[in-house]
Amino acid sequence: MNKKHYRRTAVAMTLTALVSLNPMSVAWAQNDSTNLDPGRESGGGGGRNGDVHDPGPRAGSLGAGQPLAGLTADQLQYFQNGLARFLQTDSVSGTVAGEPGSGLGPGYNATSCQSCHAQPAPGGTSPNTNAYPNVGPNPQVAEANADGALNALPSFITAEGPVREVRFPFLVGANNTVTTTPDGGVHDLFTIAGRVDAAGCTMAQANFGLMQQLGNIIFRIPTPTFGAGLVESIPDATIIANMNANAALKQQLGISGHTNNSGNDGSVTRFGWKAQNKSLEIFAGEAYNVEMGVTNELFPNERANPPAACLLNPTPEDQTNFALSGPNIPSDAVMFAMFMRLLAAPAPSTQGIPGNPSAASIAAGKAVFSMVHCDMCHTPTLQTGQSAMTLALSNQTAALFSDLLVHHMGSGLADHVSQGSAGPDEFRTAPLWGVGQRLFFLHDGRANPANGGLLQAIEAHASQGSEAGTVIELFNNQLSNQQKQDLLNFLRSL
Ligand code: HEC
Ligand code: HEC
Repeated sequence: MNKKHYRRTAVAMTLTALVSLNPMSVAWAQNDSTNLDPGRESGGGGGRNGDVHDPGPRAGSLGAGQPLAGLTADQLQYFQNGLARFLQTDSVSGTVAGEPGSGLGPGYNATSCQSCHAQPAPGGTSPNTNAYPNVGPNPQVAEANADGALNALPSFITAEGPVREVRFPFLVGANNTVTTTPDGGVHDLFTIAGRVDAAGCTMAQANFGLMQQLGNIIFRIPTPTFGAGLVESIPDATIIANMNANAALKQQLGISGHTNNSGNDGSVTRFGWKAQNKSLEIFAGEAYNVEMGVTNELFPNERANPPAACLLNPTPEDQTNFALSGPNIPSDAVMFAMFMRLLAAPAPSTQGIPGNPSAASIAAGKAVFSMVHCDMCHTPTLQTGQSAMTLALSNQTAALFSDLLVHHMGSGLADHVSQGSAGPDEFRTAPLWGVGQRLFFLHDGRANPANGGLLQAIEAHASQGSEAGTVIELFNNQLSNQQKQDLLNFLRSL
């Protein structure tokens, strides 16, 4: 599976040297127990990774969904107001009972922010019925036909699969040939045609089956927004200083990485799978228009040139509410951003929880994480700068486990989409805070507990051209099975 092929003897020497660079290397002496914590039934075992397995989402208290500690009463009011709007379902013109928001469509991927950002709490990622905390199925299945909409469900959207949005890497020309001209944009899964509140609108869905046949389709799953205000508050200089740190070791490991930058003001962009977006407000405005079809003050025009009969509202559909008061005045886009900005980082578990990995294994796994140099991309902490908004964002330690840089991740992960200076196989080091209670991993959600979960996500880091190749060789060849298990248990504590 997309393994980078190494010449064994040369690699063995290099790997030993890389390991001994690290003072933690004494821990290599740890015994290779076959009774792996958390000591569940073996799933068959054998092979390189033996019985090593992803223990799955951590049970117990939810580590996410709270507001930042230390907010003022006014700020808490804004958080709650923003949350309520984040949860709100939109209809086309706000006329359908139970769907008070308006502006949906003509194209859409879902009908509320929370549809896609739900697990393990509002603001998070794809929900699931079967995994803790059992939020429910992928809402895209029901939303395809909500209120009379006539959409066919694409085969890659399933009740217990991840929420997905779709991009077509290239334009398709005459006779259905894939051209070399980049498309790269998001193509909404659904249209409002047939809805009770979209009389007269006829608008076909894109031909996803054809795009699958042509191999011209890629998926993106939702990134969680917990701690997003902290990410927004990290100064560019801090990201750049961290990029330049440990230069010798990174060079030996083959790790480079660079910032993605705004084409407008040149500063470091940091949100999204390719670090393509500058700020929470810009992301909120864009998501409102792209995912739900709601034009707003940041993205005031309908996208994808829909038929006139499907343009049922004046634009922008979301605006400043001049006639209201207090936190009701700002637009939805502004308040979505405020909610996410004031959303606390996921809280890790340092204790063993009944039925979950032990504290000792978690601590050992944390050491393994830096021993094999995962931390050369997944930087454990970055400091925020001084925030004019709240002390809760000022000079804080963000334990995000990301350098916020984009790295070449190889042919196996490449999605052939370029965004800003992030090229076809480059992705932002995915922040790892909160992975302990997540289900779907990597930009397209290809890794989940049913197919190996975190272990699958780690193995997928290695393919032709990946900067992570040497680190994954260290993981595969230099760790005992117990150490690999400790590493997975550590990740599930986050
Ligand atoms: C159909 C599902 C869907 C809906 C609805 C949706 N999102 Fe997202 N969200 C995504 C996906 C997919 C990504 C990752 C996109 C990428 O990077 O290409 C994402 C990423 C984000 C991010 C970036 C977080 C980070 O740190 O990378 C923010 C912020 C965000 N969404 C906010 C919102 C807001 C606000 C709404 C409601 C207006 C919303 N989203 C609605 C699917 C969705
Ligand atoms: C060269 C930089 C680099 C190194 C080294 C690296 N990673 Fe990653 N990691 C990434 C990038 C980039 C992604 C996102 C890739 C994608 O989605 O296609 C990622 C994704 C992940 C994810 C999935 C997170 C999510 O949100 O889906 C996990 C888990 C992970 N890495 C763990 C590790 C571990 C454990 C190690 C060490 C064995 C490691 N990584 C080494 C860059 C790196």
